[in-house]
Amino acid sequence: MKIEMNVNGAARVVEASPYRRLLDVLREDLRLTGTKEGCGEGECGACTVSLDGETVNSCLVAVAQCHGRTVKTVEGLAAQQGDKEILHAVQTALVRCGGAQCGICTPGIAMCAADIVERELLHDQDLQQARVMVRELLAGNICRCTGYQLIVDAVIEAASEVGLQRRERASRRTP
Ligand code: FES
Ligand code: FES
Repeated sequence: MKIEMNVNGAARVVEASPYRRLLDVLREDLRLTGTKEGCGEGECGACTVSLDGETVNSCLVAVAQCHGRTVKTVEGLAAQQGDKEILHAVQTALVRCGGAQCGICTPGIAMCAADIVERELLHDQDLQQARVMVRELLAGNICRCTGYQLIVDAVIEAASEVGLQRRERASRRTP
């Protein structure tokens, strides 16, 4: 079956069995190996990507379900400015806070964290509530290295940075 998708902002066409996993098509056909396989059965979150703006476990998605839709992987998280790549706030925060060690969980965590930050899900939460909420929102992403604390720190840091930037932009627009 011919499957047409927008992947990280580019139109892609793949010829694949409709039942192949999106995870495999991304890694094997499109060479987007940033998305990792952990459990292969929807438990660990290592394979998380965004499908039409919703985070999904790509090991549980048949590629036929993606025809005509938009997929974003960790390779598409950074913004391109001319020939420069500007990392997403969650990527820099994960590095800065030490929220990545072996790195297997990191692409999936980065995709979920970006979703949390961009949808401003921590807006109006105090620090204690935000910590609890981040742990709940990342409950589907298993990390065997970090003990989660540094990942939680990174998400909170990225959320406050993105919130600050949005408020600054809004105040510049206000006459
Ligand atoms: S590899 Fe998909 S959830 Fe674990
Ligand atoms: S950094 Fe190793 S599993 Fe999370």
